[in-house]
Amino acid sequence: MVKVLVGLRDWVDARLPIMRAWDTHMGKYYAPKNFNFWYFFGVLSLVVLVNQLITGIWLTMSYTPSAEDAFASVEYIMRDVDYGWIIRYMHSTGASAFFVVVYLHMFRGLLYGSYRQPRELVWIFGMLIYLVLMAEAFMGYVLPWGQMSYWGAQVIVSLFGAIPVVGEDIVQWVRGDYLISGITLNRFFALHVVALPIVLLALVVLHILALHEVGSNNPDGIEIKQNKDENGVPRDGIPFHPYYTVHDLQAVVVFIFIFCAVMFFAPEMGGYFLEYANFEPANALKTPEHIAPVWYFTPYYAMLRAVTIEWFGLSSKFWGFVVMGAAIAILFVLPWLDRSPVKSWRYKGNLTKVALALFVVSFVFLGYLGVKPSDIYVLGIEGKIWSQIMTVIYFLFFLLMPIYTRLEKCKPVPERVVMK
Ligand code: HEM
Repeated sequence: MVKVLVGLRDWVDARLPIMRAWDTHMGKYYAPKNFNFWYFFGVLSLVVLVNQLITGIWLTMSYTPSAEDAFASVEYIMRDVDYGWIIRYMHSTGASAFFVVVYLHMFRGLLYGSYRQPRELVWIFGMLIYLVLMAEAFMGYVLPWGQMSYWGAQVIVSLFGAIPVVGEDIVQWVRGDYLISGITLNRFFALHVVALPIVLLALVVLHILALHEVGSNNPDGIEIKQNKDENGVPRDGIPFHPYYTVHDLQAVVVFIFIFCAVMFFAPEMGGYFLEYANFEPANALKTPEHIAPVWYFTPYYAMLRAVTIEWFGLSSKFWGFVVMGAAIAILFVLPWLDRSPVKSWRYKGNLTKVALALFVVSFVFLGYLGVKPSDIYVLGIEGKIWSQIMTVIYFLFFLLMPIYTRLEKCKPVPERVVMK
């Protein structure tokens, strides 16, 4: 039996180099030996991606993409389709889990300077993934055709209307109608289940190919390829397989436990993963009292609401839209804003540490403000003022980066990676 399998492998390998691919990406891919907790989230993003693809295919088998039947078809999946409820909750919990792991994965990049030369392209592919993921999540949320699906789509699509001259035409082109309707639902369905997943998968492949070309960074920000032994193997590297496959498996198991706990006991997560208003069918004649996007968009939503300027006769909605776009666009140029002689925060100075802490506070606080109604007060100060302060801090983190990363005194980076 083994002989037959080996024979089959060699037959395929003579025609398609599967062994070479295995060696390049697993068996002889030397990853730094000092990966820590923060290095689990790339693999976990892959796990969630696979979960979304598989459960998505099964949901599509019973879902009906029409304004008349979409809501009822989701209820049908939940109540009548065998194991439909678990497939749906795996998919809806998976959407939030995706952003949890991707945000932590991105934060790791910030901590250890993984976006720096020579990994700029890895970062840019990552940012493109992030953009596509946001579009994917937004369109997916419209599909159950509940009140939040409808009104969320209404608010976000109408943002394009703030663009001068061509805005209204763009809105109509996106909706395919004069209002959000079954036509919009149909095209969002096509994009959500076919077009965007293909793009996402392609980007993930490019992301990993680009990473494996230059090699992984690590918590010390040391280039392990610069210190090789006589066989050309990095002295601080270990083969990805079996060392990291086994290591990552532990994280996958822990992750699945947490994921199942949420899925079985709190799939709505108090209205954060599935908003309560979305358990009511879409009604174009009844605006929900409080429209808020799902938690992973709320930092940007808070920025949108923070802007009150009406410069050059353009509406505050337009400027809010610009600020929101700029908040994401600035992440793309991060590799060129960081001028520090070292990569990892372990060896950077105090200015970077304070800036990074303030950045995290601003992003989380904006996220909090984005889920709350715009007229809330925090510590006696209006929510809008807080959003404005936090938006400024968010941007200053990036805009001042070329200055503080050059000014501060860094610690010397050791020759070899540090094992704790
Ligand atoms: C579907 C989403 C994503 C998947 C499946 C994914 C997958 C991975 C994997 C498997 C790795 C190697 C393991 C690791 O270093 O953790 C990695 C590395 C990396 N990813 Fe992602 N990623 C995703 C999204 C992102 C995003 C949104 C960004 C940033 C904008 C990003 C930036 C990076 C960087 C900079 C590295 C290299 C890290 C280092 O070597 O220190 N990724 N990614």
